[in-house]
Amino acid sequence: MIVTEFDREDPSLKVQLADMLVLTWPQAYADSATAEVDQLMAPDRLAIAAIDNDELVGFVGAIPQYGDTGWEIHPLVVRDSHRTQRIGARLMTFIEDEIENRGGITVYLGTDDEKSQTSLSRLDLFADPLTAIREIENLDRHPYEFYEKQGYKIVGVIPDANGWNKPDILMAKRIAVPPRDLNKKQL
Ligand SMILES: CC(C)(COP(=O)(O)OP(=O)(O)OC[C@H]1O[C@@H](n2cnc3c(N)ncnc32)[C@H](O)[C@@H]1OP(=O)(O)O)[C@@H](O)C(=O)NCCC(=O)NCCS
Repeated sequence: MIVTEFDREDPSLKVQLADMLVLTWPQAYADSATAEVDQLMAPDRLAIAAIDNDELVGFVGAIPQYGDTGWEIHPLVVRDSHRTQRIGARLMTFIEDEIENRGGITVYLGTDDEKSQTSLSRLDLFADPLTAIREIENLDRHPYEFYEKQGYKIVGVIPDANGWNKPDILMAKRIAVPPRDLNKKQL
């Protein structure tokens, strides 16, 4: 298995990526996977593939959302037959290195809780979002814990982003060494 830059000129790889998107998120991509893949191939974005025996088994993309400094991960997916073999972790390490090479210092993402997989889905997050985040529990293998293991922190939530009690969980990671006087002025 290798992790490498996605070959944007390879039509077969793009079809495999579209199929993986539909299989993983049928509601979001049933009718739009090909158009989404075209967007993922935009020249300013990063596109990284995990390939096993000439087959696409994982993908991660990143979008420069704040000039070169702040990059959004979108999407990360590993084929279900290949999960828990550290492919997701390797994809994240690879893309973070690429982002750093391009001047990135913060990487962030939103990871939705649409299927009541975390304790956040049981609360009115507008009441006390920071306590809800501090006391979060993983009820059914929500991927926020995968990202925590890669060094990401929960930095916010968007309550009801995907419908009532279906929040988006915002996570971020510092990937560059900060200047020595960065935090001299503490609040
Ligand atoms: C989330 C996903 C990318 C993880 O990829 P993966 O290759 O299976 O993960 P890895 O094998 O690299 O896992 C690394 C660590 O995270 C843990 N982990 C992986 N998925 C996890 C989950 N859903 N919940 C809790 N922990 C998880 C692993 O157990 C492993 O832990 P360890 O270091 O203690 O052994 C993959 O499950 C996936 O594609 N899911 C569907 C799409 C998705 O949810 N994408 C993210 C949306 S924001």
